[in-house]
Amino acid sequence: MKSLLIILLISIIIDNYCLTLEQIHLSLGTNETEMIVTWTIPEQTCPLQQQNAKVFYSRNNNSSKQLQSSIAEMESFKDLDIKYCTYRALLNSLKPNTTYFYWIEQGKNRSDIYEFKTLPIGNEWLPRFAIYGDLGYVNDQSLPYLKKDVEQNLFDVIFHVGDFAYDLCSENGWCGHNFMRTIEPIASKVPYMTCPGNHEEFNNFSHYDSRFSMIGDRFDNNDHLMQNISLNKRLNNHYHSMNIGPIHIIMFSTEYYYYTEYGWQQIEQQYRWLEMDLKRANENRHQQPWIIVMGHRPLYCLKMGDDSCDHHTMERKEIRQGIRMHRRPNSPRQYGLEDLFFKYGVDIQFYGHEHFYARLDPIYNYTILNGKHSNNPYDHPEGPIHITTGSAGNLEFHPPFNQLKNWVSCHFLDYGYTRLVMIDKYHIRLQQISDDQNGEILDEINIFKSQPQPQWML
Ligand SMILES: [Fe+2]
Repeated sequence: MKSLLIILLISIIIDNYCLTLEQIHLSLGTNETEMIVTWTIPEQTCPLQQQNAKVFYSRNNNSSKQLQSSIAEMESFKDLDIKYCTYRALLNSLKPNTTYFYWIEQGKNRSDIYEFKTLPIGNEWLPRFAIYGDLGYVNDQSLPYLKKDVEQNLFDVIFHVGDFAYDLCSENGWCGHNFMRTIEPIASKVPYMTCPGNHEEFNNFSHYDSRFSMIGDRFDNNDHLMQNISLNKRLNNHYHSMNIGPIHIIMFSTEYYYYTEYGWQQIEQQYRWLEMDLKRANENRHQQPWIIVMGHRPLYCLKMGDDSCDHHTMERKEIRQGIRMHRRPNSPRQYGLEDLFFKYGVDIQFYGHEHFYARLDPIYNYTILNGKHSNNPYDHPEGPIHITTGSAGNLEFHPPFNQLKNWVSCHFLDYGYTRLVMIDKYHIRLQQISDDQNGEILDEINIFKSQPQPQWML
């Protein structure tokens, strides 16, 4: 008993005095006045008592004036020999479009000072994003270029569309720790928004869920503020949506369709939520004229040797057309996403999974629907635009292409990532950056429309 007490005492002392505050990253809160800071302490069991782990934040770098603070919530993670504690703090009462400095204090430990800029309020500003999938800890080719872009303040938000670290759970979770450390220089400065990929599947996506903090109830009524619901209970790292300036963005899980052992009902639940969110986005279309969705596996596929891709029709039937629930061969296909996204006028769809960059002509049900306003197919396109951007870099390298269909506009094996830049309210520019060509622009398109609804809804 006495030795147990001594061990407990020593562990409390170690926890309080020898912590490295690491893996610090940001995600968007409910609106422009909030930001979430998340960090993880490896090999730590969360203290039984709520520790005063706090994030301090201020508009001023070297003064205690205007200093605000937020107490973090803890979440204990345990899986076989892996244990760690994740901390999440919701910073609120932030001024939009303002630079903040922040640091963490936990026990006697204090982190370095980090900074971020809140998003401007409203829809009159022009957002800039980085978008990519499939970034690993080994062979993380895009990271130096992303760091450079973040240092040059090129992005308001970064979107990682699944497949992290390869894998978060590998090497008893240390691959996940190391990956989160390597992205800290970008993710501690710019909100890092995510959805899951197949590499997060282990143990029902539990490692993924324990590391990220996506608000799942952003458009529910804000009564939770009054009811004081815990931040941990408000998270949904699998599907969530947000308004950023004039763009409505939905991140969702393609993985529910492939890992049905974790519950068939998730497919229907997400589909109902997607339809509800898309209806609401269309009601608000005068405010956010652009609707963009992001998931992991593309509906149309180019990749050889992928079980989920039908190599004859070059589609992922389960997500494009729908899935036969409970694998009943005679049941109809349900919850297909192409019809849903077309019906509700989704302008652009970004995916990863296939470790290259590919751009399709505007397309619906294999029909090319180029815009007729000019020679540019994306000038008032008459169907959604599909981009595969899964070449950020990881240990699996590039796969071969299948025989390419006529709806594939271009494809490149270069490592890289996508930049989305809004030029004006009705003009979005997409640029594919090539790491292989030292950050040069590999591909660029300009997407135009002149009304909130896309051309095919008029
Ligand atoms: Fe994948």
